[in-house]
Amino acid sequence: MASPALISETQPWKDLKGHVEEVKRTHLRELMSDTERCRSMTVEFDDMLLDYSRQRATPDTIDKLFALAEAASLKQKIDRMYNGEHINSTENRSVLHVALRAPRDAVICSDGKNVVPDVWNVLDKIKEFSERVRSGSWVGATGKVLKDVISVGIGGSFLGPLFVHTALQTEPEASEHARGRQLRFLANVDPIDAARNISGLDPETTLVVVVSKTFTTAETMLNARTLREWISAALGPSAVAKHMVAVSTNLPLVEKFGIDPNNAFAFWDWVGGRYSVCSAVGVLPLSLQYGFPIVEKFLKGAQSIDQHFYSAPFDKNIPVLLGLLSVWNVSFLGYPARAILPYSQALEKFAPHIQQVSMESNGKGVSIEGVPLPFEAGEIDFGEPGTNGQHSFYQLIHQGRVIPCDFIGVMKSQQPVYLKGEVVNNHDELMSNFFAQPDALAYGKTPEQLQRENVPPHLIPHKTFTGDRPSLSLLLPSLTAYSIGQLLAIYEHRVAVQGFVWGINSFDQWGVELGKSLATQVRKQLNASRVKGEPVEGFNYSTTTMLTRYLE
Ligand code: F6P
Repeated sequence: MASPALISETQPWKDLKGHVEEVKRTHLRELMSDTERCRSMTVEFDDMLLDYSRQRATPDTIDKLFALAEAASLKQKIDRMYNGEHINSTENRSVLHVALRAPRDAVICSDGKNVVPDVWNVLDKIKEFSERVRSGSWVGATGKVLKDVISVGIGGSFLGPLFVHTALQTEPEASEHARGRQLRFLANVDPIDAARNISGLDPETTLVVVVSKTFTTAETMLNARTLREWISAALGPSAVAKHMVAVSTNLPLVEKFGIDPNNAFAFWDWVGGRYSVCSAVGVLPLSLQYGFPIVEKFLKGAQSIDQHFYSAPFDKNIPVLLGLLSVWNVSFLGYPARAILPYSQALEKFAPHIQQVSMESNGKGVSIEGVPLPFEAGEIDFGEPGTNGQHSFYQLIHQGRVIPCDFIGVMKSQQPVYLKGEVVNNHDELMSNFFAQPDALAYGKTPEQLQRENVPPHLIPHKTFTGDRPSLSLLLPSLTAYSIGQLLAIYEHRVAVQGFVWGINSFDQWGVELGKSLATQVRKQLNASRVKGEPVEGFNYSTTTMLTRYLE
């Protein structure tokens, strides 16, 4: 018998549907009192600890999820990804971001060709170039050292590098190597972003890195032209050769833009934009700021998870467990959102990056075969570092909607502060919250407890916490370049696991196209109206009225 096209038609999916009521009957308070269950719901890898005992799940749920993984051919799909098969079928491409951080002697093939030597050619070129810039042997047009870098790019050509940069900024070893240097990111086409980026910078000492996989993205190209003008106006057009370099898969367009192809750093169509932080997209700007050896540690961290994901059995496999639990929460318990809550200010750009990785990957309405899904795939991701989020949206998480939370904690602060005479230092204070919040969500507070505390009756409904709200905790030993790479890869693979189980293509993004083409139509109209005074036409009443008002 041919296998069913949709995962929701399989027996394991139906078994999980049937299992939901059973799980819902038991409050997390009771589940947490089963020590054996809790013990079975922790996994350790490389000094990091995942505790998923506060999920609304029993060991039976996990077994049923493994059966679902089997029905979805999860292992085979992971293998197909690592083997370079064209699993991004709508774009006919391999999906090989794991090759970006593979060791030099690894063999990973796409279309019959080992891509690892190409990866290392670019890494070697970045190492050499970044060392020249940092040491001052590559100087600007007026002979000054280029100490500041503006990385121009958007989406996947921006969010990942920004996350890693923000996480490294306060890491002691990395920050030591960045002394006296600045790295900024220009993404938005809003002229405010360009103005903020160049504010306080001197073109004579600034290097611009234009990052775009396609080298056609409207925002990036406009921002790149703006900065080219900024440099040319100050130093003359010939200065562009010394002050602008590029990262792209489209080297002919790089050259056409006026950047010397020798100063272009390639990557390949088998790297999806949102999975490109380990390519030159992230490695070049980060190496310019922190030096290549730091970035190499970051790549090694990601690589350690790639190996773990590929080879660990599913019950010990962190990305697999995380992905399956997300599927359980979204598709069976009916929780469409997830909060990413790092108790580390250095990870403040982690949630924005994962938003793109997850929502652009899995926000799909049809299966990989093009069949409309009878269930909702994808999840709504958002987040803020703790404890800031606690003073913002946690109210909703505690007493409003149920939103599964990822608590990410770090055992050792990057920047420990010990207050003299205080028992609790700043990091302990932060981590007290990291440990307390998951239990507050799981256990809640009952009306009986409130009565015993003599809470006035009229306040009891307001002060009651229902509890039974799922979370998981990921505890990292420290936040180094290495563990930042690990965190990145865990979440990248988690997203892939979700998509593989849902049976969708997590590696295309057709959903961003329609808005782009409509914007082109509007842009043409704006030009025609401004330059030739042409009236607004071809739009509906609403858009016509707003455009006319805007043009006035
Ligand atoms: O608009 C979506 C997108 O295509 C992302 O997938 C991508 O990361 C981003 O635009 C930027 O694309 P590029 O790197 O080609 O400029």
